Amino acid sequence: MRRRVHYVCQSCGAVAGRWAGRCEACGAWNSLVEEAQGSATGSGRRSERVIFTDLSSTEADLPRLVTGLDEFDRVLGGGLVPGSAVLIGGDPGIGKSTLALQALARLACQGAAAVYVSGEESVRQVQLRARRLGLADAPVRLATATLVESVLDSLAADPPAALVVDSIQTAHSETLEAAAGSVGQIRAAAERLIRFAKGKGTALLLIGHVTKDGQIAGPKLLEHMVDTVLYFEGERGHPFRILRAVKNRFGPANELGVFAMGERGLEPVANPSALFLGERSGETPGCAVFAGIEGTRPVLVEVQALVAPSPLTTPRRAVVGWDGARLSMLLAVLEARCGLVLAGRDVYLNVAGGLRVQEPAADLAVAAAIVSALTGRALPRDAVVFGEVGLAGEVRAVGQVELRLREARKLGFRRAWMPPHGAEGGGLEVVTVRRLAALVRLLAGSPAEAAGSAGR
Ligand code: TYD
Ligand code: MG
Repeated sequence: MRRRVHYVCQSCGAVAGRWAGRCEACGAWNSLVEEAQGSATGSGRRSERVIFTDLSSTEADLPRLVTGLDEFDRVLGGGLVPGSAVLIGGDPGIGKSTLALQALARLACQGAAAVYVSGEESVRQVQLRARRLGLADAPVRLATATLVESVLDSLAADPPAALVVDSIQTAHSETLEAAAGSVGQIRAAAERLIRFAKGKGTALLLIGHVTKDGQIAGPKLLEHMVDTVLYFEGERGHPFRILRAVKNRFGPANELGVFAMGERGLEPVANPSALFLGERSGETPGCAVFAGIEGTRPVLVEVQALVAPSPLTTPRRAVVGWDGARLSMLLAVLEARCGLVLAGRDVYLNVAGGLRVQEPAADLAVAAAIVSALTGRALPRDAVVFGEVGLAGEVRAVGQVELRLREARKLGFRRAWMPPHGAEGGGLEVVTVRRLAALVRLLAGSPAEAAGSAGR
């Protein structure tokens, strides 16, 4: 009898019955790889009677596992949920293993059964890290293993409250012959682990690598399989690390946790704004403080721009911490609606501190930084800026204004450059900016430059 095979796209995880040069689901070329039809997709499953119930629950929810690592708990929505699966993705060396070990050790010290399975490092290496972190005495059970079935069989009799698998790319299942790290293996291993977690009430923490373009390596559907997806980000050589929930079935998405990586591991940072603004110098042209909201929390960050004559025919636009396409749009609006000349000039943009800003509300702050860099006129040091910019050059209202203003005031700011808003300034002097051209006038370096923008 011929063994049945199917083809799995290594890029998106789509399954096809026959080989093709191009994946029909995601359009990637040469990404289909043959895989044996294993139990991972449930072929040959017998039908079972489904038991229905009603919407009300008689069982009390198991309490969340609160690690006490505040920023971690908050990003999760108040701790780990028993029976849930959390995926933490991030660049190599960013601190995923450190974070997982610290969280697990804290749970273990509170009496929760905690297991750490590493397929990346030897037992010795993990022990050395634990010693360095001062966690060597925490009652965490540690093993190196990569075969999921062996791990789960060993744990079945006495399932732990929390289980870390570091990493999902090194885990593999015996049901498939494909190599560890392939899409099929990642999916099969994750499926086994998640089924175990749900069945036993174990909180599962999977660590995942990211590819060069910042996605968690493996099938996209890995992110669908888990309950919570966290990304751990930061700039190399910078101590700050940002943990962001991009998906969370048990809490707010986009919640943000901030840590500082130090000698003794990751320290939660309770007041990120103070930290992001800590390195500010005096009034410097090209800098604007953005009053942003990350998840449920206001965060103030400095946006820095540098504009310089370009020797290139296509000037360079380099962005760190913001969206490159959004920058192009903003530059086009500045040229078309405000008469600024940016052709022939390189534009560099940086969000200080390693934060990646995603809110459209950052538009006005970015524009302010660019215009200020161009005119050489600094913004007032005590001003925060926020507002969305439209293609017509209008400045649009954004949400949660009170929260932004309160945070700014708390950190000693006195002024806010912002879109029209009904409410009071909350103790700050409000400079209402209705159009981008008005912002340009506020920052005009000399009458000649201001003339370019007047009257629009
Ligand atoms: P690690 O958790 O191994 O990263 P990942 O699992 O994401 O690959 O973290 C490795 C980096 O963290 C390494 O460059 C050293 C640094 N580090 C510290 O600075 N302080 C510490 O206490 C520890 C444990 C690691
Ligand atoms: Mg690691």
